[in-house]
Amino acid sequence: MSRTEWPEDVAGEIRRRVLAEPGFMKVTQVVRRGGGTFRVSLRPVVIKGEKGYQGEMTEEGRTQVKNFDLEGARSGLEEMLGQTGPRELHLVTASGDLHVRVTKKGKFLESRSSPMARDVDEQQGHDRVKRQPLTDFDSAALLKALGIADADGRIRASMRGKYDQVNEFLKVIDAAIADKPEKTLNIVDCGCGRAYLTLAVYFYLTAVRGFEVRVCGIDRKTDVIATARRLAADLDVAEHVVFVEGELAESEPPFEADMVLSLQGVCQESDRIF
Ligand SMILES: C[S@@+](CC[C@H](N)C(=O)[O-])C[C@H]1O[C@@H](n2cnc3c(N)ncnc32)[C@H](O)[C@@H]1O
Repeated sequence: MSRTEWPEDVAGEIRRRVLAEPGFMKVTQVVRRGGGTFRVSLRPVVIKGEKGYQGEMTEEGRTQVKNFDLEGARSGLEEMLGQTGPRELHLVTASGDLHVRVTKKGKFLESRSSPMARDVDEQQGHDRVKRQPLTDFDSAALLKALGIADADGRIRASMRGKYDQVNEFLKVIDAAIADKPEKTLNIVDCGCGRAYLTLAVYFYLTAVRGFEVRVCGIDRKTDVIATARRLAADLDVAEHVVFVEGELAESEPPFEADMVLSLQGVCQESDRIF
């Protein structure tokens, strides 16, 4: 065995993730040889309603593109894995990336990324990445603090619904602020609960839209307000994201609201909100 051949466990992982993982998006390998590079990639595509693969090979400035069925993709991948010498392989999937650099001396340097930065659009063929507001910025710390993502950054199955809900709500907010000339916004989140939306809207609008934002979450429950305050402090935004405990009808946010939100039902005991 050449000292730069793939170790069997890594090759096995690549085969499995490329050919069998539903969230596979792309694998690319760049091999250095004779002072030049040979680049080959494989990605899933939908051809006439059928899932297939598209291979792309570039050498000396010439690119060839070819479509494959599963068997064709399998042999294309074997050819890719059969390449030796210094090279880099980058595997992109919805469950995270694998990056391997093989040095001239035959050292394998592996790195892996966390999975939550992407979501796969099955309707479009599994190569298309859905744009989701929570993937438009580095939301790792936020999602972990909220318990939506686990310690490895994966969206917990039990929290997938909340993750989707918050993403959808952020899209609505995005549309509502599209024509807003001033970049400041005071937001009140009614019945904020554990502040999933309250904190997400703050981070999204500041990090992605460049707004100066103040958010106030209101909830009648003492325990959820305590949790929300702790989360805001842990995420170092307690100055801008505040919480008021009380009935909506009786609570005063510390500023005049430009926007009022409510996700998942509040019950009003009077007509008046503030
Ligand atoms: C289903 S939870 C949703 C929480 C949060 N918006 C979310 O989507 O994760 C509804 C929250 O609204 C609060 N709530 C409902 N009616 C309220 C009222 N009249 N005044 C204050 N809080 C209220 C409840 O205490 C509860 O925490």
